Amino acid sequence: MTGAASTQTFRTAIVPAAGLGTRFLPATKAVPKELLPVVDTPGIELVATEAAESGAERLVIVTSPGKESVVNYFRPAPELESALERKGKTALLEKIRRGPALLDVEVAIQKEALGLGHAVAQAEPNLTDADEAVAVLLPDDLVLPSGVLSRMSAVRAEYGGSVLCAFDIPKEQISPYGVFDVTDTADPDVKQVHGMVEKPAPEDAPSTFAAAGRYLLDRAIFDALRRITPGSGGELQLTDAVALLIKEGHPVHIVVHHGDRHDLGNPGGFLRAAVDFALDDPEYGPALRTWLTDRIEKP
Ligand code: UTP
Repeated sequence: MTGAASTQTFRTAIVPAAGLGTRFLPATKAVPKELLPVVDTPGIELVATEAAESGAERLVIVTSPGKESVVNYFRPAPELESALERKGKTALLEKIRRGPALLDVEVAIQKEALGLGHAVAQAEPNLTDADEAVAVLLPDDLVLPSGVLSRMSAVRAEYGGSVLCAFDIPKEQISPYGVFDVTDTADPDVKQVHGMVEKPAPEDAPSTFAAAGRYLLDRAIFDALRRITPGSGGELQLTDAVALLIKEGHPVHIVVHHGDRHDLGNPGGFLRAAVDFALDDPEYGPALRTWLTDRIEKP
């Protein structure tokens, strides 16, 4: 652990969760998408677990008026705990205590959904002088296995500046993503970023490295966020603030993550994640596998 501790460059993680979740309507009329369960655990707990495992001590959840339940999820539930204790339900007790024990959770409010960059900016008052860099984790994006933020932290310790996460995507599938313009470093999984192109046609893509929802951002990002103007969709884009930093000579690198990812932000991606996790679940996996195999063979 000494190696990990010496390259720990952040202690606060920000999770923006103030979006409208329109792709999940009508459910998101009443339930924030971050609380929808992947098997039995909300996506926000999976992402908070990743933040805690990467060494974060504090989680600032940016949420909107009416979505307070996302933060309340991390508060202890003493009455429920007593009821489960009385019934001897120790496995369930352990499950409900897991979230609140992960790390210190604070809230920041984004009154209006004015974009991801604007959401991240709302967390600045929660920071202290010790926060020279912050991690940002998008709760829609499951990056598996956990651990990429620790690698990103080691890259910041070496190069300074900000570090983002990327996946190497086949060129013909690159169009839905933000794609990095990069040059190599001595490490094949670490590249220096010179720019970014949103949703390019395959022939216009500057590389095959696509952005994922993990960022390790130098504190300078908050100053950049104050200086950008609304971009696509009239929203303040986090990537525009990163682009401004690059333009001003601030070092930005990517770590290419080798693993899986799930997009929990739309029903199709969410279902895939739920099935993936459920197939590995000792309680539900075997029966689900049998049922799915039969179901797929039905006309
Ligand atoms: P998305 O655009 O994927 O989420 O933003 P959304 O806006 O909630 O979903 P749709 O598009 O309407 O279905 C990525 C992340 O940024 C947060 C979202 O909550 C999500 O976690 N976000 C986005 C904010 O916190 N505030 C915003 O103004 C926009």
